[in-house]
Amino acid sequence: MPTKVEKDQLTGTETTGHEWDGIKELNTPLPKWWVYVFYATIVWSLGYFVLYPAIPLGSTYTKGILGWSSREQVEEQLARAEERQAEFLNGIRESSLPEIVDDPTLFQFARQGGAVYFADNCAACHGAGGMGNPGGFPVLADDAWIWGGDLEAIHATIRHGVRWDDDPDTRFSMMPAYGDGLLTAEEIGQVADYVLSLSGAAPEGADPAAGAEIFAVQCAACHGENGTGLADLGAPNLTDAIWLYGGERSDVVAQITNPQHGVMPSWANRLDSEVVKMLTVYVHSLGGGQ
Ligand code: HEC
Ligand code: HEC
Repeated sequence: MPTKVEKDQLTGTETTGHEWDGIKELNTPLPKWWVYVFYATIVWSLGYFVLYPAIPLGSTYTKGILGWSSREQVEEQLARAEERQAEFLNGIRESSLPEIVDDPTLFQFARQGGAVYFADNCAACHGAGGMGNPGGFPVLADDAWIWGGDLEAIHATIRHGVRWDDDPDTRFSMMPAYGDGLLTAEEIGQVADYVLSLSGAAPEGADPAAGAEIFAVQCAACHGENGTGLADLGAPNLTDAIWLYGGERSDVVAQITNPQHGVMPSWANRLDSEVVKMLTVYVHSLGGGQ
């Protein structure tokens, strides 16, 4: 094969002198800058090989003289995050509920943590964001409270639950079943009309006056003289048109005849005390805290 360097006539570029079957190869070397960058990367990689983990060797690898490892870096970051978390939890543990609410950093931490625990433990009954569920699972995001809506009251309810057999400090009260001979069906109808009239929902033609007397004797001890409820006894406000068990006349009659009673688990034994505090702050902040 003849090799003869010459100029290509069409392009004016030198050939390499290689020629196959009359086809000649032009000599177009890589641009200088590209070649230098290429060399630089080789030098860089050598430095990298020496400094950082690089070459796999069976079950191990060259560690590099800096001793850097991605695993250690992650562990360090995790440890730092845990330290911060522990600091906050410590703050929660050592502060009273009002102190937590007054400290913007602790408050943020408690609210965000509380929201997570709420979604895991409470939302099944109380709905996402405490929006409540029909059938006696109260809304926690309004300002109607059965057992009280200040920090202490909410804390006690969450710690000890409501009518929860396993907790001796649980909140407890029972409305009598007036259908068991305490009141006649007619009287129950009358007091139901009176109860409905308290929220402006008395059926047409009803005479609340007859029920008012029965209410004063039978119901006021728990629900209050004006029917606005007594938190100590867990007797709900009957004047706010917010109903656990429905606001139809038939619902109210059913409740008076044979009452339903909500049951809520106690959490003091299941969740850390810091978590219960965070849940308290979260529930209190939902909008209806007193
Ligand atoms: C198994 C269902 C259930 C679960 C789970 C549950 N609750 Fe309840 N909760 C209830 C019921 C029912 C009531 C209403 C009790 C009553 O009728 O007096 C209630 C009442 C409450 C009250 C009192 C509301 C008021 O108006 O006074 C608070 C506060 C509360 N729950 C918070 C929580 C928190 C926080 C959690 C999660 C840690 C939780 N609940 C989990 C069923 C549940
Ligand atoms: C010993 C206390 C007590 C007495 C007396 C009592 N209640 Fe209640 N009542 C309660 C409690 C506690 C509840 C809430 C049950 C629950 O939270 O599950 C309740 C719930 C109700 C409800 C349901 C409210 C809702 O939001 O759905 C109505 C209606 C009601 N009572 C009417 C009456 C009437 C009428 C009388 C008198 C005839 C009466 N109650 C007497 C304690 C009492």
